[in-house]
Amino acid sequence: MLMSASSNPIEESFELAAARCADLTPLVYQRLFDQHPETRAMFRTQGSELVKGSMLALTIEAILDLAGERRGHFRLIACEVSSHDAYGTPRELFIAFFAVIRDTLCDLLGDEWSTDIAQAWDALLIEIDAFAAVPA
Ligand code: HEM
Repeated sequence: MLMSASSNPIEESFELAAARCADLTPLVYQRLFDQHPETRAMFRTQGSELVKGSMLALTIEAILDLAGERRGHFRLIACEVSSHDAYGTPRELFIAFFAVIRDTLCDLLGDEWSTDIAQAWDALLIEIDAFAAVPA
């Protein structure tokens, strides 16, 4: 059975953000590049808009699956840890992408960023840390 938005604070945070902003992509990458300037040069110059858009979309799908039904999309996270090792993305940076997404949502939601949502994100980030800590 599908969880209703109100019983799943992570899902709720994305829904509230979607009501305020049609596309999170520019906001997320602006924040990533501000907080971790070295990441700007990691993306290719040609075609990077597509890569960045789909990397974010797949990451969000994995987050929603991890926070919800766990049908399998969440496995992308462990899988990408090893492919990003090959791209030269350090683990801490890989993990930081999830916090960048959380912070982007938090900014967008303003007053609507509830204690429930904050706690659910804290717990999720801890769990994701554990995935990424597993040796590739
Ligand atoms: C700050 C952290 C991250 C950086 C700097 C980064 C960087 C990159 C780069 C440089 C590429 C290759 C682009 C190309 O082919 O030109 C890529 C692809 C990709 N990234 Fe990331 N990434 C980060 C975090 C993540 C996370 C957390 C996920 C999801 C869990 C993810 C999922 C993907 C996917 C699915 C692709 C497509 C190619 C593939 O399957 O490896 N990335 N990323």
